Amino acid sequence: MTVPFDIKGCVALVTGASRGIGRACALQLAQAGAIVYACARSEDALRELAEASEGVRVCVLDLRDEVMVEELASEIMEAHGRLDLLVNNAGVLGPRASLDQTSAEALREVLEINVVGAFNVLSASYPALRAASLPRVINLSSSVGRKGRAQWGAYSISKFGLEGLSEIAADELGEDAVVVTLNPGGTATDMRAEAYPDEDPETLPSAEDVAQTIVLLARQLRADLSGKRFSSRALFDLAKESSDDVVELPTD
Ligand SMILES: NC(=O)c1ccc[n+]([C@@H]2O[C@H](COP(=O)([O-])OP(=O)(O)OC[C@H]3O[C@@H](n4cnc5c(N)ncnc54)[C@H](OP(=O)(O)O)[C@@H]3O)[C@@H](O)[C@H]2O)c1
Repeated sequence: MTVPFDIKGCVALVTGASRGIGRACALQLAQAGAIVYACARSEDALRELAEASEGVRVCVLDLRDEVMVEELASEIMEAHGRLDLLVNNAGVLGPRASLDQTSAEALREVLEINVVGAFNVLSASYPALRAASLPRVINLSSSVGRKGRAQWGAYSISKFGLEGLSEIAADELGEDAVVVTLNPGGTATDMRAEAYPDEDPETLPSAEDVAQTIVLLARQLRADLSGKRFSSRALFDLAKESSDDVVELPTD
């Protein structure tokens, strides 16, 4: 590859697009000319997103519902014959508690969305991803999905699961695809406010800043980077430059 991918005409699916990083990502991809499918559970927020951008097609679904996820993947395949970019972004925080204060039920709920939900989307998208010339999958992870930390139990376990899901998909989809994880780092969103209620969001990068790093990865990922881990913090400067040349992407 001698030039970055052109986002224009790229068929993309962004999960968790009703707010936060997913919403900003859907808007920026559409702004760059992608055909964006955006999903989440909140119907009103998705309607507002569709009104904000002509390039975004919204779909109200719960990722835990594998039938609805299959239907969306089939709809994309029928309409476009391929999926060039999957941004597995949807997630929940769950309880911030030590393991002995986390119930099995609470753990199951977080895993059901952050791991099973991501699995549902990724596995249902395999046919459409395989039909693309170099499909890219970006899974939104976390620093606590790479190193365990006290009081992050269920969420941390789920992000380790997502890292594993990514590695498996990178191996299965082989050299004709790029599957990576991205740790956005602390970002001013509802989820961050839930985790750190006393923090001033003004001190954090915005969802739009992180979305720029997703667009950067979408343009610049090459097959030899499949299976790698990235962090938005290390990509902010490159993302702002938005170079038309191929750039070296720092991995974790
Ligand atoms: N913000 C941070 O500081 C931070 C740091 C590290 C990692 N991350 C990761 O980055 C990603 C985005 O986080 P964010 O901060 O933007 O979170 P957010 O503002 O809470 O948004 C989460 C999104 O996920 C969707 N979602 C949750 N459960 C769903 C379900 N069952 N089915 C479909 N959609 C569902 C939500 O939509 P509905 O509620 O409408 O369904 C929402 O659009 C997450 O994977 C998160 O773990 C964030």
